[in-house]
Amino acid sequence: MDTSNYLKDNIRTVPDWPAPGVQFRDITPLLQDPRVFRVLIDAFVHRYMTPELRPTVVAGLDARGFIIGSVVAYELGLGFVPIRKKGKLPFTTVEETYELEYGSATVELHTDAVKAGDRVLLIDDLIATGGTMMAGARLLEKLGATVMEGAAIVDLPELGGSARLKASGLPLFTLVNFA
Ligand code: PRP
Ligand code: ADE
Repeated sequence: MDTSNYLKDNIRTVPDWPAPGVQFRDITPLLQDPRVFRVLIDAFVHRYMTPELRPTVVAGLDARGFIIGSVVAYELGLGFVPIRKKGKLPFTTVEETYELEYGSATVELHTDAVKAGDRVLLIDDLIATGGTMMAGARLLEKLGATVMEGAAIVDLPELGGSARLKASGLPLFTLVNFA
């Protein structure tokens, strides 16, 4: 099976949402069909169960990174750490502010979420400018962890995020490309 095209066929494009000119790549149809959802999760699980790529913890980015990341963590037998939009985490946090394709945002991470020596797999649904994943990686590194790889379902290469992330030294794995 061509996993990439199978997944791509199940992503919906909504023009001019949430702002004029944005082609919104909606991943909810991937989750709705249990067969497609399994293909999606298995694509990540098979990659990260190989010994040389096995992380010690999985982190997910608010909010769609939680849906994918927590299931991948569960399947790998690992813990899951949420990186949240500002103002949602109750304990002490570290924070990073970054620019989005449409607007800006601040993300936070609990200070005890990871520790020095952890090899973190950082998961989101989509890479646009790469700002969200870059901010997440910085938070994890502030706490002494290493981000062994960033992973997402969708890459939007025209927005330059995947190139920026790779240039920063972060290995990146994506399943579907909307060039
Ligand atoms: C979207 C998407 C990624 C981010 C990608 O999230 O889920 O997290 O944007 O964009 P970037 O590569 O330019 O940073 P959004 O901030 O819209 O939040 P949501 O998941 O709460 O909808
Ligand atoms: N996040 C940032 N840009 C996006 C897009 N074009 N589609 C879906 N999510 C996004």
